[in-house]
Amino acid sequence: MLGKKPAFGIYVHWPFCLAKCPYCDFNSHVRHKPVDQATFVSGYEREIAHMAAMAPGREVTSIFFGGGTPSLMEPETLERILAAIAKHWGISKTAEISLEANPTSVEAGRFKAYRAAGVNRVSLGVQSLRDDQLKFLGRMHNAAEAKAAIEIARDIFPRISFDLIYARPNQTLAEWEIELNEAIALAADHLSLYQLTIEQGTPFFELHKKGRFQIPDQDQAADLYELTADITNAHNLPAYEISNYAAEGSQCEHNLVYWRYQDYAGIGPGAHGRITTNEGKIATACERNPEKWWQKANVDGHGMNVQDLLTLEEQADELLVMNLRLREGFDPARYEALSGKPFNPEKITMLEEFGFLETLPSGWLRATASGFLVLDAVVADLAV
Ligand SMILES: C[S@@+](CC[C@H](N)C(=O)[O-])C[C@H]1O[C@@H](n2cnc3c(N)ncnc32)[C@H](O)[C@@H]1O
Ligand code: SF4
Repeated sequence: MLGKKPAFGIYVHWPFCLAKCPYCDFNSHVRHKPVDQATFVSGYEREIAHMAAMAPGREVTSIFFGGGTPSLMEPETLERILAAIAKHWGISKTAEISLEANPTSVEAGRFKAYRAAGVNRVSLGVQSLRDDQLKFLGRMHNAAEAKAAIEIARDIFPRISFDLIYARPNQTLAEWEIELNEAIALAADHLSLYQLTIEQGTPFFELHKKGRFQIPDQDQAADLYELTADITNAHNLPAYEISNYAAEGSQCEHNLVYWRYQDYAGIGPGAHGRITTNEGKIATACERNPEKWWQKANVDGHGMNVQDLLTLEEQADELLVMNLRLREGFDPARYEALSGKPFNPEKITMLEEFGFLETLPSGWLRATASGFLVLDAVVADLAV
């Protein structure tokens, strides 16, 4: 029997947004003149050709258009990027092709064209089902528009998911329980549920520092996380990663590529990648500024300003950080082969006694739900 082909993902970053949300530290930029997409897309075509030459002969098993706001892409732009990927690498017939979309009516109007271009999974940035909270988060849609976009997406795409941000200022357990149950009633088989994090360099960071609002403390956040687990489990949408919940078989394959520490190419401004070349596994990162990235891609054939060959020890560290996020757990032998040393059995026993780690009957290790809440400490204990 032929083995399953190894997963190989492509992350495509579209760096533009209509407005900058006050909590967001993603590589997103607002431009006051419309972006000339027909010209800008040539940067992606060049970068795809260049990266395919670095890691030739791979079949692409997942593609993820993230942002920024990729639902601002004209369908022709997306088509050209997919055509370049198909030309230089080849796309598996069963590839998952996801697009992040903001749920305004304008963007929902483009869904049919995205589907025709090959997108088979959409992830909507709903963030909240409460108008006052959407206002607080600086979003350009209201709850009714979000619900309408979910309905439209459900009719057009075989697979849909949406994102919510919880652990917001003053959010009670009772309020979150009602909102999450409403969300599950609207959801298909996948949800991403993120706790609000206050990122340095964002307007929320300054407002929070000045005491304009408070977010739940560690205990309250843990209670909200546990409530989330209880509700999603009761609806057969268990966590398969810290913040991602899905029915069996409906996990996002592309995100699994990251957490299983498989290869992916990162295309576009600010995109990161991990690709295995003749020399070994390489960490890549592209120039973050969209115009500088495009200029560099035109001169050098790519916009990467980082191409670091990773040592086996660095790979082992990255593998651990990624694998521990997964509910399926991981094979310790892979870490041990890369790091050249076994895990310390005393540390494993200690973490198991604290209830943060467990050994599965297969011999794989996995973080428990309590371990997810203190993952950095679990990683630090295991990595020494
Ligand atoms: C690349 S972002 C956004 C995609 C899309 N532009 C949008 O806003 O819907 C992916 C997701 O990360 C989450 N996110 C971004 N910043 C966050 C923060 N500071 N705290 C919690 N979640 C955040 C949001 O749920 C968002 O949908
Ligand atoms: S949250 Fe999404 S829409 Fe808002 S600035 Fe960030 S990437 Fe853009």
